[in-house]
Amino acid sequence: MKKRIAILPGDGIGPEVMQGAVRVLQAISDCFQHDFIFEEGLIGGAAIDECGNPLPDTTLDLCSKSDAILLGAVGGPKWEATSQTIRPEQGLLRIRKELGLFANLRPVCAYEPLIHASTLKKEVIEHVDLLIVRELTGGLYFGKPSERRGDNKELAVDTLVYNIQEIERVVDKAFQLARKRRKKLTSVDKANVLESSRMWREVVNRLSANYPDVQVEHMLVDSASMQLIYRPEQFDVIVTENLFGDILSDEASMITGSLGMLPSASLRSDAVGLYEPVHGSAPDIAGKNLANPLGMVLSVALMLKFSFGLDKEASIIEESVMKVLNDGFHTGDLHLQQGTRVSTTKMVNKIIDSINENQ
Ligand code: NAI
Ligand code: MG
Repeated sequence: MKKRIAILPGDGIGPEVMQGAVRVLQAISDCFQHDFIFEEGLIGGAAIDECGNPLPDTTLDLCSKSDAILLGAVGGPKWEATSQTIRPEQGLLRIRKELGLFANLRPVCAYEPLIHASTLKKEVIEHVDLLIVRELTGGLYFGKPSERRGDNKELAVDTLVYNIQEIERVVDKAFQLARKRRKKLTSVDKANVLESSRMWREVVNRLSANYPDVQVEHMLVDSASMQLIYRPEQFDVIVTENLFGDILSDEASMITGSLGMLPSASLRSDAVGLYEPVHGSAPDIAGKNLANPLGMVLSVALMLKFSFGLDKEASIIEESVMKVLNDGFHTGDLHLQQGTRVSTTKMVNKIIDSINENQ
């Protein structure tokens, strides 16, 4: 299979974990005779340094011509002075919006060897296997007006706005994903207070008629945030709007341990998607070959599955991650007492060895 993949390493540990991702993809293409074409683009702080723009047109063009996009991470102290009006994160917000990536997926599952890396009890997390689907291009983060008002700017306004199509497309995506999993969908809103949430609930109820095999429940966001740490195994797919999803997905990511383990996918209606680890650019460990590459590597598995339909290849990557962890190899962020602590490159080597054995 021939595919063009845009590679956006970004800042901090972004380039280090991206190098691992590309090596893993090369191993997969060698094993299965795929033709993956990698083309690199600038984003974030690296792009600001080069051309003063966190998302240059050349990068946007590259992404528009690609079958999928891999992103490392953006940002760092160098670009964070409050006086800075051009910031690396603007590149991230803009690429999602420009490419119309409206559904952000964050799977969270328990890895047996890492169960003690979580701050929660083993009994609470051992059966967790959930997927958060967050609406990514609407709601409070994009609503206008968003501004300061008054003579002394003593008033601040943000706007939570959704149109019905924006809700339908993300809810429909979540139903489709639930159908392929354990067939349970939890829609999270604040329908006791917000008009946009009442419309959200109407849409979920209407679309549920198309998915009679999927069990649907509604949950208020405050209650959902409690249930996520109280009994997380009750959830299969959770769908929610942008702000709630931002908060709940960070909460959910901590259920099973380290930020460095977690992948994400941002999708639209066709097969094109953007895949990135959940973590940021980790400036404290950048350039030291210490970063956990698994969040990025698992993002590659999501790309193979969702954008290319290569389920077998994706499973082989996921199984390799499992095997390497089971063999006791891990990076320092996991704070494990047992096993062998290794560098970023060594961890990637182990994954590649396992892929080569597994095929
Ligand atoms: P962060 O995720 O970069 O780091 C938080 C902590 O987790 C740090 O101690 C870091 O060393 C550790 N960590 C993160 N990923 C790791 C990995 N793969 N392996 C080992 N340890 C890892 O979040 P922080 O420190 O709040 O932000 C740093 C920069 O990253 C900021 O400029 C922020 O804006 C940016 N950021 C970018 C994101 C993105 O590109 N999607 C997401 C979150 C933050
Ligand atoms: Mg967040």
